[in-house]
Amino acid sequence: MFDANASTLRVPPTAAVIFGATGDLTHRKIIPAFYHLAKNGHLPEGFSIIGFARREKDDATFRQELKASLDKFAHTKPVDEKVWKWLESRIFYQIGDLPTAEDYVKLAERLKSLPHANAFKGNYLFYLATAPNYFCAVAENLFKAGLAPDEEGMHTRRLIVEKPFGEDLPTAQKLNRDLVKYFPEKTIYRIDHYLGKETVQNLLYFRFGNSIYEPLWDSRYIDHVQITVAEKVSVEGRGGYYEGAGASRDMVQNHLMQLFSLIAMEPPARLEAENIRDEKVKVLKSITMPSNAEILKRTVRAQYGGGLIDGRQIPPYRQEERVDPNSMIETYVAMRLEIDNWRWHGVPFYLRTGKALQKQFSEISIIFKRPPSVLFAANNTKISRNWLRIRIQPDEGIHLHFNAKVPSQPTLKQVEMSFNYRESGQHYLPEAYERLICDAMLGESTLFTRADEVEEAWRIIDSVRAAWANEDTTNMPLYSPGSMGPVESDELLRRDGRSWARPV
Ligand code: BG6
Repeated sequence: MFDANASTLRVPPTAAVIFGATGDLTHRKIIPAFYHLAKNGHLPEGFSIIGFARREKDDATFRQELKASLDKFAHTKPVDEKVWKWLESRIFYQIGDLPTAEDYVKLAERLKSLPHANAFKGNYLFYLATAPNYFCAVAENLFKAGLAPDEEGMHTRRLIVEKPFGEDLPTAQKLNRDLVKYFPEKTIYRIDHYLGKETVQNLLYFRFGNSIYEPLWDSRYIDHVQITVAEKVSVEGRGGYYEGAGASRDMVQNHLMQLFSLIAMEPPARLEAENIRDEKVKVLKSITMPSNAEILKRTVRAQYGGGLIDGRQIPPYRQEERVDPNSMIETYVAMRLEIDNWRWHGVPFYLRTGKALQKQFSEISIIFKRPPSVLFAANNTKISRNWLRIRIQPDEGIHLHFNAKVPSQPTLKQVEMSFNYRESGQHYLPEAYERLICDAMLGESTLFTRADEVEEAWRIIDSVRAAWANEDTTNMPLYSPGSMGPVESDELLRRDGRSWARPV
């Protein structure tokens, strides 16, 4: 409710219920997001949050714990005490067990008795920040307690579902089927937090808001595309979760597939949710997966061994906490995808992601075709390919690398033209969760994944995983922490006469 004039998006009166309220996500991301929404004037007076979890706790203790985390995790510091006071007076704690239906009846009563209940009048946002095996039970229990959307559409009831959304295509399909029994598709908001990043949203604006790039955006001018999401962090304490996921499910099925489809999709008829989602699904559908043998040639999976990153000792993945000492789970993936449509026929898309790498950065590189060299052949000049580098994070920006004459010499050199978000203005860059939670409360679903989109992404990842599962090996390549991945990944591109763009 602060800086009301600065705000253009104002959420209607709503009560948000967070399931998994004592978990890491609530503390690190969800509450800091609500705090920044309050700070920037997006939240209405008639707003409340209920944290629902099993541990015994009162409102005051819950608020204190959230404040301690906010002080640590807020991306703008120090925390504005006036804003926090405003928000904290609207935060409540409800003890409850996720599978227990009666606890939702109590939740419904509590919601009705909150101080601002007359303002939000039964309009609720439910945030599933729980382990995925509870998603369906929570939706069903909300339904039984009369908290799901009503047929008459009297109230706004929406469900935010965190990742992972299923663990393969059949489980994702089942989850989709189960959830829509209680919440219609248009009230389900599947989170992929990459879509909340300003730089990811900018992919659409950049592509379709300029006339100089779109005419070049196809196989006539583009040689290939690279998408890198590199992480310096290792698996650390998340071994238990990671053993069931690996890089392909944790990162490729969702975040990398989102970047991929936004870069490759056709222009939508309108910049509206269904139009954009239709185009994204279309491009995923245009990926035909080859035979297992061919998939093995086009993909690389690897694990980090032991070593140092910035002087810090990293244990080999197989010695991380709660990791099987013979684990075949990949902490690194590289793959080559091909889109079978008119625009992209013959243009490879190389994707890579990994943990414990040299640098923390996410970037999309569009590498254009090499110009004919005949004009410069006499001087033995090697002409570099033009390179459009879209930096998603950190140092968010866009860089165009092109060739220019070296002064006083008859030769060419690659130079760079840059746009940097942080240098370019006074604009506040919200965190992904701020934008996504705000949009869910506004009923704006563009930045959330639709059921068919999630399923198409699983179809691709399932084929890759099936090929890996059939591979006759008990080992996989290792890479050193602090490197940019295994040599096999470099080899994947070298075979095609290409190389990964250097980390800048
Ligand atoms: C999450 C993954 O979805 O994304 C994590 O589960 C990963 O393993 C994280 O570290 C990366 O997100 P970001 O925004 O830091 O790039």
